[in-house]
Amino acid sequence: MKFLVINGPNLNMLGIREPDIYGKNTYADLIRLITEHAEKLNVDVECFQSNHEGSIVDKIQKAYGKKDGIIINPGAYTHTSIAILDALKSVGIPAIEVHISDVDSREEFRKISYITSYCIERITGMGFAGYLKAVDDLFKFISSK
Ligand code: DQA
Repeated sequence: MKFLVINGPNLNMLGIREPDIYGKNTYADLIRLITEHAEKLNVDVECFQSNHEGSIVDKIQKAYGKKDGIIINPGAYTHTSIAILDALKSVGIPAIEVHISDVDSREEFRKISYITSYCIERITGMGFAGYLKAVDDLFKFISSK
C-alpha cells in the first residue's frame, strides 16, 4: 500500500513555530515518526511539504494512479483552498485530514475547512499522534475495500 503525506505552509517550521500550540518537535521528527509507524504496517509513505498552494495541487494530481491514500494537513490552506479540495476530488484517492492543534477551539476562521467534505475522516488536536492514527485508519479503510 502506498500513502502520500502532505503538509502545507509553515509546517516545515515545526519546533520553532508557536511551540505552545504545535509542540517542540520538528518537521524531521514528525517524518521519522510517520515513516517508522508506516513500516510496521508495511505501508510505503512519501512525505511532501510545501508552502505553495499550486505545488500541493500538482502533488495531489501526480498521485493519481500511483498512491492508494492521502493524509493531508493543508495548514492555513485548509481554511481557504477550493483548489486543494478540487484536486482531491479530481484524483478520487481516499484521504484523511489532520491538524496538530484543536482547530475548532481556536479562532473562528480556523473552524472552516474546505476539504472536510471530501475526507473520510478529520483528526484534530492530537499533536503528531494524529498522523499515526491517520495511517492506521486509512490502512483499515483501504484494506476493508
Ligand atoms: C494547522 C491549523 C491551521 O489553522 C494552521 O494554519 C496551520 C496548522 C494544524 O495542524 O493545527 O498551519 O493545520
